[in-house]
Amino acid sequence: MLSLIVAKAKNNIIGRNNSLIWHLPDDLKRFKALTTGHTIIMGRRTFESLGRVLPNRHHVILCNDMEMNVDNENVEILKDISELKDYIENNEENFIIGGATIYKLLMPYCSKMYITEIDKEFEGDVSFPKIDKSIWKETSREQGPADGENDFKYDYVIYEKI
Ligand SMILES: NC(=O)c1ccc[n+]([C@@H]2O[C@H](COP(=O)([O-])OP(=O)(O)OC[C@H]3O[C@@H](n4cnc5c(N)ncnc54)[C@H](OP(=O)(O)O)[C@@H]3O)[C@@H](O)[C@H]2O)c1
Repeated sequence: MLSLIVAKAKNNIIGRNNSLIWHLPDDLKRFKALTTGHTIIMGRRTFESLGRVLPNRHHVILCNDMEMNVDNENVEILKDISELKDYIENNEENFIIGGATIYKLLMPYCSKMYITEIDKEFEGDVSFPKIDKSIWKETSREQGPADGENDFKYDYVIYEKI
């Protein structure tokens, strides 16, 4: 099965200049806790923005470049979303981790979304797609802990497909 994990601003912005805009330590900790031991699926640009292979996670990178190669046993490069069939159909929780292009492309195949909703608008160049509330039901909402570093509130929200 596919789940999706994202942190988005109030105006749906998720990034700028191929990087994250905010530094939210508790959210990063939560991302690590949820995804460790699982497969993480991402676009080539998000992989580049990570800058490294994350420990204890199988990485699937989508890209159209036939030449792309990452010499790491935890990295698999796929050229077409049809090659994700096994990840969609197996019983494991496999995480779509972005970015904007990949969220838009794969949201229809996801069963669950872990969305960190930041209560502030940001300027950026990539957005999360609109959530169709006739398909997605909010099943959990919990306020993230204040951290002294950020002046905004944020909620950890889970949506499940109806
Ligand atoms: N806030 C968050 O939670 C969050 C999470 C992740 C990322 N982000 C942000 O999102 C931004 C990156 O998003 P993005 O939309 O620019 O890039 P992206 O979705 O990470 O990657 C796009 C790339 O994926 C490949 N791709 C797309 N569709 C494909 C397909 N159908 N088949 C094969 N490959 C395909 C292409 O690679 P090639 O060009 O190599 O062909 C494309 O350029 C950054 O700012 C990042 O910081 C935010």
